[in-house]
Amino acid sequence: MCGIFWYQGKETHAQNILLNGLKRLEYRWYDSAGLLVGNQKEIKLVKAIGKVSNLSEKVQKEINAEEQFSFGIAHTRRATHGGITENNTHPHYDNKQQFYLVHNGIIENYHKLKQELIAKWYEFYGQTDSEVIANLLTEHRNGNFLETVEKILQIIKWAYALLIVSPLAPGEMIAAKIGSPLLFGHDKDNNFFLSSDKQWLIGYVDQLTYLEDGDLLHIKNNEYTVTSKGIPTQKPFEEMDIKEIESSKGNYKHFMLKEIFEQANIIRRIFKWRVDFQNKILNAEAFHGMQNENFEHIVFIGCGTSYNAGSLGKLWMENLAGIPASCEIASEYEYRNINVNSKTLYVFISQSGETADSIEVLKMIKEKWWHTFGIVNVVGSTISRLTDYGLFTRAGAEIWVASTKAFTAQLSCILLLALFLGKKRALPKAKYEQILRELAKVPTMIEDLLADQTQIRELAQELKKYNNFFFLWRHYQFPIANESSLKLKEITYLHSESYPSGELKHGPLALIDEKIPSVIFCPQDFLFEKNLSSIQEIKARNGKVIAVSDKEIEGSDYTIKIPKTIDDIYPFITVIVGQLLAYHTADILWKNIDKPRNLAKSVTVK
Ligand code: AGP
Repeated sequence: MCGIFWYQGKETHAQNILLNGLKRLEYRWYDSAGLLVGNQKEIKLVKAIGKVSNLSEKVQKEINAEEQFSFGIAHTRRATHGGITENNTHPHYDNKQQFYLVHNGIIENYHKLKQELIAKWYEFYGQTDSEVIANLLTEHRNGNFLETVEKILQIIKWAYALLIVSPLAPGEMIAAKIGSPLLFGHDKDNNFFLSSDKQWLIGYVDQLTYLEDGDLLHIKNNEYTVTSKGIPTQKPFEEMDIKEIESSKGNYKHFMLKEIFEQANIIRRIFKWRVDFQNKILNAEAFHGMQNENFEHIVFIGCGTSYNAGSLGKLWMENLAGIPASCEIASEYEYRNINVNSKTLYVFISQSGETADSIEVLKMIKEKWWHTFGIVNVVGSTISRLTDYGLFTRAGAEIWVASTKAFTAQLSCILLLALFLGKKRALPKAKYEQILRELAKVPTMIEDLLADQTQIRELAQELKKYNNFFFLWRHYQFPIANESSLKLKEITYLHSESYPSGELKHGPLALIDEKIPSVIFCPQDFLFEKNLSSIQEIKARNGKVIAVSDKEIEGSDYTIKIPKTIDDIYPFITVIVGQLLAYHTADILWKNIDKPRNLAKSVTVK
């Protein structure tokens, strides 16, 4: 989504720090960028459509290098309210230029507020909801910067991460948040930084803290105070745990491919710390605290790729732990009438830990005092902080939009949770040991598959001719077909549907002809024979079949061969094929794989 970066400190050319920060996060999807810099006397504003390099050029021209600016705010915007124009680019200001601000999130009551302001002769240069906040500040100005901000925060309906400065209050800055993330940090020399994104702070801060909903940070004369819902509070600071930003793709053509290749070692790392394969013991700390819990129902919650991972969790829970389970899309679950008992465990899955839809459900569940578990990649993120128990996926920073390594890392952690709960319940010892044996081989199987991509590349040459695809599945392959279909959509912009093979005859067969290829995930699991019948159904209608299996499939047009393993473990392998199919097709079609259109890495608005 949009990004915020603020600096105040000893640097005399704040614009340099801001531009460096913006360049580091260029891989994110944004349409325009802007910054303001200031000192005790003045505030200067520069905005540009398109790339940060456009902004950088304008800054060179419009800000005199001899002038000194000790603070500044930068913002990257992805258009929501209003088109991609300089006027809609942040920072925004009011009619009297008394307040300047950047804003992430969406002000839900902005339309009504805007009409009220227009009735009072306020004029608007753009269409954003953020500009309304700036004029609201002027409307309610009472001579005290802090009180004025507090007043308007009672009027606007969140979500927001807001940073406000005013030429009337030089040296002051106020930040407030509800819903959208905001992190505050400093280095040893008392340079202060604030950002919507931890990545942005890497290398700048030694200590950081996460602002919570309702927190208000006020900087004045190089001192800061934080209030939480109006009450002064001491924020706990922690060491910045990431020291360097991952900025090199090494010998890989794309960052996405690099992350695909990282998967084997990530899974090794996850198991190294959490599984004693020799003695067949699960070591994760989170499990110790749960020893005495007896969960009767598991609900997985997530969005996109994380939802897909949760869908596999549901099947593992049913099959291995013998516990009824479901997996829910966060943006839908929020509006449901839920009837579960207090022995339900809610498992929140999220790479970023900042996805607004998932956080909303988490808050709702916490209000009911139900048990929550987080499977999260970003340490310190909102979901990791709010859940009762959890496992970090330890996949390293996943920077690129199309999630790959986060997914297999999530699967690894979810399977460990299912094994832990299974061991306490229905899972036979022999099955438990068989799974651990096969799990230990997963990284090598992935490496073997990645070692030779010739066939998938050749196939992608063929697939680029089609506009529509089916991804077909049964049982354990459901999340994998979903995920493969999502990957294809995200980076090739081609249409695909994930469908259960058994449902074809109930409608979708009508679509099958030589123009729609079907990728069918059919390893030799307990439903293999059934999948063979589905393949025949498709072939009988001249459909093209790409089978993903450990056995050459007679009658299919292509078989992508995968290593042999057991039913519960195949998904770790078949998903790699799905990722590679999407990657190579997108590459052959010359798509911008690392920056897919319209998408953001972390979706912090609802
Ligand atoms: C996957 O490639 C996506 N970019 C997207 O679906 C993502 O998984 C989703 O937005 C959830 O994000 P999270 O894991 O950070 O919560």
